[in-house]
Amino acid sequence: MICCKGVCKSFSEKQVLSGIDFDINSGEIFGLLGPSGAGKTTLIKILTGQLSSDKGSVSVFDKEVSSLSGEDKKSIGIMMDQFGVYERLSCRDNLKIFADIYGVPHDRIRDTLEQVGLKDAEYRSAANLSKGMRARLALARVFMHSPKLIFLDEPTGGLDPQTMRQIHRIILEKKEKGCTVFLTTHNMEEAYKLCDRVALLNEGVIVEHGAPEDICRKYNHQKTIKMHFSSGEDIQMPHSPESAERISRLLSEGRIETIHSSEPTLETVFLELTGRKLEEDE
Ligand SMILES: Nc1ncnc2c1ncn2[C@@H]1O[C@H](COP(=O)(O)OP(=O)(O)O)[C@@H](O)[C@H]1O
Ligand SMILES: [Mg+2]
Repeated sequence: MICCKGVCKSFSEKQVLSGIDFDINSGEIFGLLGPSGAGKTTLIKILTGQLSSDKGSVSVFDKEVSSLSGEDKKSIGIMMDQFGVYERLSCRDNLKIFADIYGVPHDRIRDTLEQVGLKDAEYRSAANLSKGMRARLALARVFMHSPKLIFLDEPTGGLDPQTMRQIHRIILEKKEKGCTVFLTTHNMEEAYKLCDRVALLNEGVIVEHGAPEDICRKYNHQKTIKMHFSSGEDIQMPHSPESAERISRLLSEGRIETIHSSEPTLETVFLELTGRKLEEDE
């Protein structure tokens, strides 16, 4: 669906992307995970043809981005910084503008608002929406014309947990319908939950990529099993054949309340690889 090879980009003297390579398969949710300033927005702009790269190539639908046809572009939906919401217009009229641009019949507007939980706000002006509702309106705009490929730049940035969950549900529904999604985030829990594969971006370089579970397993250096006993005690045992008998006995005696393996989170992996946190304290 997307093939990105050796993409480099500098702004004046500053190198922002240094040789980015990845492929995105049809039907997957691919997450570009990195802290603020890593180069995520720059890369999304290059992938969507809003900015050209200095070096390397990007193809979408097996074509160079610069040579996509009008029809191809209609199969793409883009949300950057929740742009495209007109404050003075109602939710309905906001979507009407895009329906007209994309040649979508107006009777789809209500369905689209319903999909993002904004049916009751159809005639409310965008200026009177909460932050979470506005984010969902921006998302509705992306889906208006049923695109096959969707780019979302930090779709849940700065939103409350409930809106975040709603947006996750909407994105997963789109995937179920066969959409391919490219999203950026600096939230590792979001990446772990939503993405089939992620690339960890730091200072313009992909430092690791793969399925979130595989990445976490790969950096599981400790290989321990952590248990919490009903008595309140916490213990750790090595992940080894010698522990098996003991754990089995403890389990059959009903003494174990919880049992966990010790894989790191994506956040910990990122810290190990870069010495930086994904979500830096502001
Ligand atoms: N148009 C621009 N001109 C100069 N520098 C830019 C421009 N756009 C982005 N940058 C710089 O590129 C780096 C990466 O920015 P960006 O892609 O927005 O990162 P992210 O989206 O991961 O936060 C930052 O240091 C930013 O200041
Ligand atoms: Mg950004």
